[in-house]
Amino acid sequence: MAVGNMRTPRRDFLKAAAAGAGLAAAASVLPTRLATAQPAKLRVGLMLPYTGTYAQLGVAITNGLKLVIQERGGRLGGREIEFYTVDDESNPAKAPENANKLVQRDKVDVLIGTVHSGVAMGMAKVARETGVLTIIPNAGADALTGALCAPNVFRTSFSNWQPTYPIGKVMVERGHRTAAYITWKYAAGEESLAAFREGFTKAGGKVLKELFVPFPNVEFQALLTEIASIRPDAVACFFAGGGAAKFLTDYAAAGLRDKIPLYGSGFLTDGVLEAVSGVAQGIETTLHYGDGLETPRNQQFRLAYAKAFKQQPDVYAVQGYDTGLLLAAGLEAVKGDVGSMQGVIKAMESARIDSPRGPFTMSRAHNPVMDIYLRKVVGKENRVTGIAHKALADPGRGCKLA
Ligand code: BEZ
Repeated sequence: MAVGNMRTPRRDFLKAAAAGAGLAAAASVLPTRLATAQPAKLRVGLMLPYTGTYAQLGVAITNGLKLVIQERGGRLGGREIEFYTVDDESNPAKAPENANKLVQRDKVDVLIGTVHSGVAMGMAKVARETGVLTIIPNAGADALTGALCAPNVFRTSFSNWQPTYPIGKVMVERGHRTAAYITWKYAAGEESLAAFREGFTKAGGKVLKELFVPFPNVEFQALLTEIASIRPDAVACFFAGGGAAKFLTDYAAAGLRDKIPLYGSGFLTDGVLEAVSGVAQGIETTLHYGDGLETPRNQQFRLAYAKAFKQQPDVYAVQGYDTGLLLAAGLEAVKGDVGSMQGVIKAMESARIDSPRGPFTMSRAHNPVMDIYLRKVVGKENRVTGIAHKALADPGRGCKLA
Protein backbone atom coordinates (compact mmCIF):
# COMPACT_ATOMS: atom_id res chain seq x y z
CA MET A 1 0.00 0.00 0.00
CA ALA A 2 1.37 3.41 -0.95
CA VAL A 3 2.01 5.55 2.07
CA GLY A 4 0.35 8.42 0.20
CA ASN A 5 -3.02 6.64 0.46
CA MET A 6 -3.00 6.65 4.21
CA ARG A 7 -5.54 8.58 6.19
CA THR A 8 -4.06 11.80 7.45
CA PRO A 9 -4.86 13.08 10.91
CA ARG A 10 -2.99 16.18 9.72
CA ARG A 11 -6.28 18.17 9.56
CA ASP A 12 -6.73 18.15 13.34
CA PHE A 13 -3.10 18.99 13.88
CA LEU A 14 -3.29 21.91 11.38
CA LYS A 15 -6.56 23.17 12.85
CA ALA A 16 -4.83 23.44 16.19
CA ALA A 17 -1.83 25.09 14.55
CA ALA A 18 -4.10 27.62 12.75
CA ALA A 19 -5.82 28.39 16.00
CA GLY A 20 -2.33 28.96 17.33
CA ALA A 21 -1.62 31.46 14.52
CA GLY A 22 -4.81 33.36 15.38
CA LEU A 23 -3.79 33.50 18.97
CA ALA A 24 -0.33 34.67 17.98
CA ALA A 25 -1.86 37.67 16.15
CA ALA A 26 -3.72 38.58 19.28
CA ALA A 27 -0.71 37.99 21.47
CA SER A 28 0.12 41.67 21.86
CA VAL A 29 -3.18 42.25 23.66
CA LEU A 30 -3.46 38.97 25.57
CA PRO A 31 -1.63 37.94 28.70
CA THR A 32 1.31 35.63 27.81
CA ARG A 33 -0.40 32.69 29.57
CA LEU A 34 -3.26 32.70 26.99
CA ALA A 35 -1.06 33.26 23.94
CA THR A 36 0.47 29.77 24.00
CA ALA A 37 -1.48 27.44 21.64
CA GLN A 38 -1.72 23.74 22.39
CA PRO A 39 -1.81 21.22 19.53
CA ALA A 40 -4.78 18.84 19.58
CA LYS A 41 -4.38 15.80 21.81
CA LEU A 42 -2.98 12.69 20.16
CA ARG A 43 -5.72 10.04 20.03
CA VAL A 44 -4.24 6.68 21.01
CA GLY A 45 -6.38 3.56 20.65
CA LEU A 46 -5.62 0.58 22.90
CA MET A 47 -7.03 -2.73 21.70
CA LEU A 48 -5.96 -5.22 24.35
CA PRO A 49 -7.37 -8.04 26.48
CA TYR A 50 -8.51 -6.83 29.90
CA THR A 51 -10.51 -9.98 30.72
CA GLY A 52 -9.74 -13.69 30.32
CA THR A 53 -6.50 -15.67 30.44
CA TYR A 54 -4.47 -12.80 28.88
CA ALA A 55 -5.97 -10.00 31.04
CA GLN A 56 -2.78 -9.52 33.06
CA LEU A 57 -0.79 -9.16 29.82
CA GLY A 58 -3.07 -6.35 28.61
CA VAL A 59 -2.70 -4.49 31.90
CA ALA A 60 1.11 -4.84 31.93
CA ILE A 61 1.37 -3.54 28.33
CA THR A 62 -0.86 -0.57 29.20
CA ASN A 63 1.22 0.22 32.29
CA GLY A 64 4.50 0.06 30.37
CA LEU A 65 3.18 2.43 27.70
CA LYS A 66 1.87 4.86 30.31
CA LEU A 67 5.23 4.89 32.08
CA VAL A 68 6.95 6.24 28.95
CA ILE A 69 4.35 9.00 28.67
CA GLN A 70 4.69 9.82 32.37
CA GLU A 71 8.49 10.02 31.98
CA ARG A 72 7.95 12.57 29.19
CA GLY A 73 5.71 14.85 31.25
CA GLY A 74 2.45 13.46 29.82
CA ARG A 75 3.32 14.17 26.17
CA LEU A 76 4.75 12.46 23.11
CA GLY A 77 6.16 14.62 20.33
CA GLY A 78 4.87 17.65 22.23
CA ARG A 79 1.25 16.42 22.26
CA GLU A 80 -0.87 15.39 25.20
CA ILE A 81 -2.41 11.94 24.94
CA GLU A 82 -6.07 10.91 24.94
CA PHE A 83 -6.67 7.16 25.31
CA TYR A 84 -9.51 5.19 23.71
CA THR A 85 -9.72 1.64 25.03
CA VAL A 86 -11.38 -1.60 23.89
CA ASP A 87 -11.25 -4.93 25.74
CA ASP A 88 -10.73 -7.39 22.87
CA GLU A 89 -11.30 -10.40 25.19
CA SER A 90 -8.72 -12.37 23.12
CA ASN A 91 -11.65 -13.13 20.80
CA PRO A 92 -10.64 -13.29 17.10
CA ALA A 93 -14.29 -13.23 15.95
CA LYS A 94 -14.73 -9.69 17.32
CA ALA A 95 -11.37 -8.37 16.12
CA PRO A 96 -12.42 -6.39 12.99
CA GLU A 97 -15.39 -4.86 14.84
CA ASN A 98 -13.23 -3.87 17.80
CA ALA A 99 -10.49 -2.40 15.61
CA ASN A 100 -13.09 -0.42 13.66
CA LYS A 101 -14.55 1.00 16.88
CA LEU A 102 -11.19 2.63 17.50
CA VAL A 103 -10.24 3.55 13.93
CA GLN A 104 -13.61 4.55 12.37
CA ARG A 105 -15.68 5.62 15.39
CA ASP A 106 -13.02 7.11 17.69
CA LYS A 107 -10.76 8.24 14.83
CA VAL A 108 -7.57 7.36 16.67
CA ASP A 109 -4.25 8.63 15.30
CA VAL A 110 -2.41 5.52 16.48
CA LEU A 111 -3.70 2.00 17.05
CA ILE A 112 -1.87 -0.12 19.66
CA GLY A 113 -2.78 -3.82 19.89
CA THR A 114 -2.84 -6.63 20.68
CA VAL A 115 -1.82 -9.79 22.59
CA HIS A 116 -3.49 -12.77 20.85
CA SER A 117 -2.14 -13.73 17.41
CA GLY A 118 -5.58 -14.54 15.96
CA VAL A 119 -7.05 -11.23 17.16
CA ALA A 120 -4.03 -9.37 15.78
CA MET A 121 -4.61 -10.85 12.31
CA GLY A 122 -8.14 -9.37 12.24
CA MET A 123 -6.93 -6.07 13.66
CA ALA A 124 -4.06 -5.79 11.17
CA LYS A 125 -6.48 -6.22 8.25
CA VAL A 126 -8.23 -3.03 9.41
CA ALA A 127 -4.83 -1.38 9.86
CA ARG A 128 -3.80 -2.25 6.30
CA GLU A 129 -7.11 -1.13 4.80
CA THR A 130 -7.25 2.21 6.61
CA GLY A 131 -3.52 3.01 6.76
CA VAL A 132 -3.71 3.99 10.44
CA LEU A 133 -0.32 3.92 12.20
CA THR A 134 -0.29 0.65 14.16
CA ILE A 135 2.08 -0.84 16.75
CA ILE A 136 1.74 -4.45 17.90
CA PRO A 137 2.99 -4.76 21.50
CA ASN A 138 2.79 -8.55 21.82
CA ALA A 139 1.01 -10.79 19.28
CA GLY A 140 3.59 -12.92 17.51
CA ALA A 141 1.75 -14.16 14.38
CA ASP A 142 4.62 -14.61 11.93
CA ALA A 143 2.70 -13.22 8.94
CA LEU A 144 2.23 -9.78 10.57
CA THR A 145 5.86 -9.01 9.78
CA GLY A 146 6.04 -11.59 6.98
CA ALA A 147 3.71 -12.00 4.02
CA LEU A 148 1.21 -9.48 5.49
CA CYS A 149 3.72 -6.79 6.46
CA ALA A 150 2.71 -3.18 5.77
CA PRO A 151 4.41 0.23 5.80
CA ASN A 152 2.19 1.50 8.64
CA VAL A 153 2.41 -1.62 10.87
CA PHE A 154 5.26 -2.11 13.37
CA ARG A 155 5.84 -4.71 16.07
CA THR A 156 7.82 -4.12 19.28
CA SER A 157 7.54 -7.65 20.66
CA PHE A 158 8.61 -10.74 18.63
CA SER A 159 7.48 -13.10 15.92
CA ASN A 160 6.33 -16.47 17.28
CA TRP A 161 9.40 -18.00 15.68
CA GLN A 162 11.95 -15.89 17.61
CA PRO A 163 11.65 -16.87 21.30
CA THR A 164 11.07 -20.58 20.61
CA TYR A 165 13.56 -21.42 17.85
CA PRO A 166 16.64 -21.30 20.20
CA ILE A 167 15.30 -23.60 22.97
CA GLY A 168 15.71 -26.83 20.92
CA LYS A 169 19.49 -26.46 20.75
CA VAL A 170 19.65 -25.82 24.51
CA MET A 171 17.66 -29.00 25.17
CA VAL A 172 19.95 -31.13 22.99
CA GLU A 173 22.96 -29.64 24.80
CA ARG A 174 21.35 -30.82 28.06
CA GLY A 175 21.32 -34.37 26.64
CA HIS A 176 17.66 -34.62 25.57
CA ARG A 177 17.29 -36.46 22.24
CA THR A 178 13.50 -36.87 22.22
CA ALA A 179 10.71 -34.46 23.17
CA ALA A 180 6.95 -33.99 23.26
CA TYR A 181 5.45 -30.55 22.56
CA ILE A 182 2.22 -29.34 24.12
CA THR A 183 0.38 -26.10 23.40
CA TRP A 184 -2.90 -24.30 22.71
CA LYS A 185 -4.41 -24.95 19.29
CA TYR A 186 -4.20 -21.53 17.65
CA ALA A 187 -1.67 -19.56 15.61
CA ALA A 188 0.74 -18.74 18.46
CA GLY A 189 0.87 -22.37 19.61
CA GLU A 190 1.15 -23.81 16.13
CA GLU A 191 3.87 -21.36 15.03
CA SER A 192 5.80 -21.88 18.27
CA LEU A 193 5.65 -25.63 17.67
CA ALA A 194 6.95 -25.16 14.10
CA ALA A 195 9.85 -23.04 15.44
CA PHE A 196 10.60 -25.65 18.10
CA ARG A 197 10.54 -28.48 15.59
CA GLU A 198 12.95 -26.53 13.37
CA GLY A 199 15.45 -25.76 16.15
CA PHE A 200 15.26 -29.12 17.93
CA THR A 201 15.61 -31.32 14.82
CA LYS A 202 18.38 -29.10 13.42
CA ALA A 203 20.30 -29.72 16.68
CA GLY A 204 19.77 -33.50 16.35
CA GLY A 205 16.61 -34.05 18.43
CA LYS A 206 13.39 -35.85 17.48
CA VAL A 207 9.85 -34.68 18.29
CA LEU A 208 7.88 -37.77 19.35
CA LYS A 209 4.46 -36.22 19.84
CA GLU A 210 2.60 -32.91 19.30
CA LEU A 211 -0.29 -32.31 21.68
CA PHE A 212 -2.96 -29.59 21.62
CA VAL A 213 -5.69 -28.16 23.82
CA PRO A 214 -8.19 -25.64 22.44
CA PHE A 215 -7.52 -22.00 23.47
CA PRO A 216 -8.12 -20.92 26.24
CA ASN A 217 -8.91 -24.30 27.85
CA VAL A 218 -6.78 -25.39 30.78
CA GLU A 219 -7.89 -29.01 31.09
CA PHE A 220 -4.45 -30.62 30.74
CA GLN A 221 -4.93 -33.88 32.65
CA ALA A 222 -5.55 -36.29 29.75
CA LEU A 223 -2.57 -34.98 27.79
CA LEU A 224 -0.28 -35.12 30.82
CA THR A 225 -1.23 -38.78 31.23
CA GLU A 226 -0.35 -39.34 27.58
CA ILE A 227 3.04 -37.62 28.04
CA ALA A 228 3.78 -39.89 31.02
CA SER A 229 3.09 -42.93 28.87
CA ILE A 230 5.25 -41.73 25.92
CA ARG A 231 8.18 -40.99 28.26
CA PRO A 232 10.09 -38.47 26.14
CA ASP A 233 13.46 -37.19 27.41
CA ALA A 234 11.90 -33.74 27.85
CA VAL A 235 8.75 -31.68 27.23
CA ALA A 236 8.58 -28.26 25.59
CA CYS A 237 5.52 -26.02 25.44
CA PHE A 238 3.92 -22.66 24.64
CA PHE A 239 1.54 -21.30 27.26
CA ALA A 240 1.21 -17.78 28.64
CA GLY A 241 -0.69 -15.76 31.27
CA GLY A 242 -3.20 -17.56 33.48
CA GLY A 243 -2.96 -20.72 31.33
CA ALA A 244 0.81 -20.94 31.92
CA ALA A 245 0.34 -20.75 35.70
CA LYS A 246 -2.24 -23.55 35.53
CA PHE A 247 -0.04 -25.71 33.28
CA LEU A 248 2.97 -25.39 35.62
CA THR A 249 0.79 -26.35 38.59
CA ASP A 250 -0.78 -29.34 36.81
CA TYR A 251 2.57 -30.57 35.43
CA ALA A 252 3.94 -30.73 38.97
CA ALA A 253 0.73 -32.24 40.40
CA ALA A 254 0.88 -35.01 37.77
CA GLY A 255 4.27 -35.98 39.21
CA LEU A 256 6.14 -35.10 35.99
CA ARG A 257 8.30 -32.25 37.27
CA ASP A 258 11.10 -34.44 38.61
CA LYS A 259 10.82 -37.11 35.91
CA ILE A 260 10.59 -35.28 32.58
CA PRO A 261 12.24 -31.82 32.47
CA LEU A 262 10.02 -29.02 31.16
CA TYR A 263 11.20 -26.25 28.79
CA GLY A 264 9.56 -23.59 26.66
CA SER A 265 9.60 -20.06 25.38
CA GLY A 266 9.82 -17.76 28.38
CA PHE A 267 6.10 -16.88 28.34
CA LEU A 268 5.72 -20.04 30.43
CA THR A 269 7.37 -18.45 33.46
CA ASP A 270 7.02 -14.69 32.85
CA GLY A 271 4.54 -12.76 34.98
CA VAL A 272 3.45 -15.90 36.88
CA LEU A 273 6.18 -16.48 39.45
CA GLU A 274 4.51 -14.45 42.21
CA ALA A 275 1.73 -17.04 42.04
CA VAL A 276 3.48 -20.32 41.20
CA SER A 277 7.24 -19.97 41.71
CA GLY A 278 7.30 -23.11 43.91
CA VAL A 279 6.45 -25.43 41.01
CA ALA A 280 8.66 -23.60 38.48
CA GLN A 281 12.07 -23.77 40.18
CA GLY A 282 14.92 -24.58 37.80
CA ILE A 283 12.84 -24.42 34.59
CA GLU A 284 14.90 -23.10 31.68
CA THR A 285 13.30 -20.99 28.94
CA THR A 286 14.35 -18.67 26.12
CA LEU A 287 13.00 -15.12 25.71
CA HIS A 288 13.99 -11.59 24.72
CA TYR A 289 13.83 -10.42 28.35
CA GLY A 290 14.60 -11.65 31.84
CA ASP A 291 13.58 -9.83 35.01
CA GLY A 292 17.00 -10.69 36.44
CA LEU A 293 18.82 -8.92 33.59
CA GLU A 294 21.56 -7.00 35.38
CA THR A 295 21.98 -3.84 33.33
CA PRO A 296 21.66 -0.26 34.63
CA ARG A 297 18.92 0.34 32.02
CA ASN A 298 16.83 -2.60 33.22
CA GLN A 299 17.34 -1.75 36.88
CA GLN A 300 16.29 1.86 36.31
CA PHE A 301 13.17 0.68 34.42
CA ARG A 302 12.25 -1.86 37.10
CA LEU A 303 12.54 0.73 39.87
CA ALA A 304 10.42 3.27 37.97
CA TYR A 305 7.76 0.67 37.11
CA ALA A 306 7.56 -0.68 40.67
CA LYS A 307 7.24 2.87 42.01
CA ALA A 308 4.49 3.79 39.55
CA PHE A 309 2.37 0.62 39.70
CA LYS A 310 3.32 -1.05 43.04
CA GLN A 311 4.14 -4.31 41.26
CA GLN A 312 7.05 -5.88 39.42
CA PRO A 313 7.24 -5.60 35.61
CA ASP A 314 7.46 -8.60 33.27
CA VAL A 315 8.17 -9.05 29.56
CA TYR A 316 4.73 -7.66 28.64
CA ALA A 317 5.37 -4.47 30.60
CA VAL A 318 8.69 -4.12 28.75
CA GLN A 319 6.95 -4.54 25.38
CA GLY A 320 4.40 -1.85 26.34
CA TYR A 321 7.23 0.42 27.43
CA ASP A 322 9.10 -0.16 24.16
CA THR A 323 5.92 0.57 22.21
CA GLY A 324 5.94 3.98 23.90
CA LEU A 325 9.64 4.48 23.08
CA LEU A 326 9.10 3.61 19.40
CA LEU A 327 6.07 5.88 19.13
CA ALA A 328 7.99 8.69 20.85
CA ALA A 329 10.83 8.29 18.31
CA GLY A 330 8.36 8.57 15.42
CA LEU A 331 6.46 11.54 16.82
CA GLU A 332 9.49 13.49 17.96
CA ALA A 333 10.91 13.35 14.41
CA VAL A 334 7.81 15.18 13.05
CA LYS A 335 7.17 17.34 16.13
CA GLY A 336 3.92 15.52 16.82
CA ASP A 337 2.45 15.87 13.32
CA VAL A 338 1.38 12.27 12.82
CA GLY A 339 -0.07 13.30 9.44
CA SER A 340 3.51 13.44 8.18
CA MET A 341 3.33 9.67 7.93
CA GLN A 342 6.47 9.27 5.80
CA GLY A 343 8.50 11.08 8.45
CA VAL A 344 7.01 9.03 11.30
CA ILE A 345 7.65 5.74 9.48
CA LYS A 346 11.20 6.69 8.51
CA ALA A 347 12.06 7.61 12.10
CA MET A 348 10.51 4.42 13.47
CA GLU A 349 12.31 2.28 10.88
CA SER A 350 15.69 3.74 11.80
CA ALA A 351 15.13 3.95 15.58
CA ARG A 352 17.50 2.20 17.97
CA ILE A 353 15.31 1.49 20.97
CA ASP A 354 17.10 1.76 24.33
CA SER A 355 14.96 -0.99 25.85
CA PRO A 356 15.19 -2.61 29.30
CA ARG A 357 15.67 -5.88 27.32
CA GLY A 358 18.81 -4.37 25.73
CA PRO A 359 19.01 -2.14 22.65
CA PHE A 360 17.19 -3.31 19.53
CA THR A 361 16.54 -2.14 15.98
CA MET A 362 13.75 -2.79 13.49
CA SER A 363 14.10 -5.33 10.67
CA ARG A 364 13.11 -4.43 7.11
CA ALA A 365 9.71 -6.01 7.91
CA HIS A 366 9.28 -3.83 11.09
CA ASN A 367 10.03 -6.54 13.68
CA PRO A 368 12.69 -6.30 16.44
CA VAL A 369 16.20 -7.65 15.81
CA MET A 370 17.24 -8.59 19.33
CA ASP A 371 19.13 -10.94 21.63
CA ILE A 372 17.27 -13.99 22.92
CA TYR A 373 18.30 -14.86 26.47
CA LEU A 374 18.55 -18.21 28.23
CA ARG A 375 16.84 -17.91 31.62
CA LYS A 376 16.38 -20.13 34.65
CA VAL A 377 13.78 -19.77 37.39
CA VAL A 378 15.53 -19.04 40.68
CA GLY A 379 13.19 -18.03 43.50
CA LYS A 380 10.73 -15.55 41.99
CA GLU A 381 13.08 -14.47 39.24
CA ASN A 382 13.76 -15.47 35.63
CA ARG A 383 17.51 -15.22 36.05
CA VAL A 384 19.45 -14.61 32.82
CA THR A 385 22.16 -17.27 32.50
CA GLY A 386 23.37 -16.50 28.96
CA ILE A 387 22.48 -15.42 25.45
CA ALA A 388 20.77 -18.25 23.56
CA HIS A 389 20.92 -16.40 20.23
CA LYS A 390 22.61 -13.07 19.52
CA ALA A 391 20.74 -10.43 17.44
CA LEU A 392 18.09 -12.84 16.19
CA ALA A 393 16.08 -11.49 13.25
CA ASP A 394 12.86 -13.13 12.09
CA PRO A 395 13.26 -14.28 8.46
CA GLY A 396 10.28 -12.06 7.49
CA ARG A 397 9.27 -14.57 4.83
CA GLY A 398 7.15 -13.05 2.07
CA CYS A 399 7.46 -9.42 3.21
CA LYS A 400 7.72 -7.12 0.22
CA LEU A 401 8.69 -3.88 1.99
CA ALA A 402 11.77 -2.29 0.39
C1 BEZ B 1 0.17 -14.68 20.83
O1 BEZ B 1 -1.01 -15.05 20.74
O2 BEZ B 1 0.82 -14.31 19.84
C2 BEZ B 1 0.83 -14.68 22.18
C3 BEZ B 1 0.08 -14.56 23.32
C4 BEZ B 1 0.70 -14.52 24.56
C5 BEZ B 1 2.09 -14.60 24.65
C6 BEZ B 1 2.84 -14.74 23.50
C7 BEZ B 1 2.22 -14.77 22.25
